Amino acid sequence: MSVPPWLQQRLNAAGGSVPFRTYMDWALHDPDHGAYGAGRLRIGRAGDFVTAPALGPEFAALLAPQLAQWLQQLEATRPLALVETGPGEGELAGQLAQALVTGWPQLAARTELVLVEPNAGMAARQRQRLQHCPLPVRWSSFEQLAAAPVAGVVVAHEVLDALAVERIVSDGAAWRQQRVTLHQGTLRLEPGAPLEPEAAARLQPLGLAAPGAQRPAGWCSELHPGLEPWLAACGAALGRGRLLVIDYALEAWRYYAPSRSEGTLMAYREQRASADPLLEPGAWDLTAHLCIDSLVAAAVASGWQLLGQRRQGEALLALGLAQRLHGLQHARGCDLPGKGSGRVDLADALARREALLRLVDPTALGDFRWLAFQRGEGESEGPAPSLFLQDPAPTAEVAGAEAS
Ligand SMILES: C[S@@+](CC[C@H](N)C(=O)[O-])C[C@H]1O[C@@H](n2cnc3c(N)ncnc32)[C@H](O)[C@@H]1O
Repeated sequence: MSVPPWLQQRLNAAGGSVPFRTYMDWALHDPDHGAYGAGRLRIGRAGDFVTAPALGPEFAALLAPQLAQWLQQLEATRPLALVETGPGEGELAGQLAQALVTGWPQLAARTELVLVEPNAGMAARQRQRLQHCPLPVRWSSFEQLAAAPVAGVVVAHEVLDALAVERIVSDGAAWRQQRVTLHQGTLRLEPGAPLEPEAAARLQPLGLAAPGAQRPAGWCSELHPGLEPWLAACGAALGRGRLLVIDYALEAWRYYAPSRSEGTLMAYREQRASADPLLEPGAWDLTAHLCIDSLVAAAVASGWQLLGQRRQGEALLALGLAQRLHGLQHARGCDLPGKGSGRVDLADALARREALLRLVDPTALGDFRWLAFQRGEGESEGPAPSLFLQDPAPTAEVAGAEAS
């Protein structure tokens, strides 16, 4: 596969080789050539890959009561902000804005939508999607927000998996940093110098003190050095409130299991998946799972308090997914939860049912993790309970409109 001229120039200027993290950052976020930076990637059934909001409004409808609860708990502080980082096509932001305005009009009247999107190419499409957004909407950065921190809720849905990762590779005795090297006009992944003792020591809490016999030469995985600066910047932007991270994530013992010898890095384009991160740089999405232990440690080090975590399937059941499915099964032209009072045709009901089932499929989206963090609240009093961390309500009622 030929190397695009822009990347050849970069690599030549860097002496022919860069750490994998630098390569991933360029391939995704370079403003002119990166897959997100240039706005090349499309999210949706007709695009490069599908995320939960691209399946329809069900995901946002189930998430909205949780966000409304958290915003209501902050009500004494106003105005409020619903911040979405990495909004992609702007679909989730638009759906959440609509759900808030419909279900919690008084709360919505005090809430603005803030989008944090560093890639201009993506922000351009978000502006288009949100032209008629029912909430006031603005685009900002964590750095700009830090000048006047907001109170509210930050949603990070499938964004932290787009932060560039470091890759480490075993040489049988020590850990080496993986590099991307230009070799006779092609790209190669090659082991670089052994990690400095200080860097190697940081792997100990992940169960990676030394490669050992179980992780022979060639065994590789990812580290997430971008998490802590991101969480610190997010924390500085949010004076008071909560952060909900929803992403592919594994506990350290599963992430770094000897059997996972290639890590979790994947490339996506036009609904195809590949384990080769060097394919057509700047045209494919590159994504790595999060390590839950690393995420929580980075969050705590940045002043966040962990409220709890759940698998997506469990979180959505706690938020009323079963009741919505039940409502659809019994919808014979009658009301559907969250859809107002209109007659529903069969095709629509089937599409919504399929979307709900995909959201909880334990082999796919249902295995996503939801992790909630808070900052700036009365920690001594203990956190207020959160809907998605509770067991599903036994009644057939779906969390509904704001009590007024
Ligand atoms: C996989 S898409 C997720 C889109 C959306 N949240 C969804 O679920 O459909 C990743 C998004 O994160 C953005 N992004 C990448 N790095 C980011 C960062 N450091 N901060 C905020 N957004 C980022 C990308 O440009 C893109 O919009």
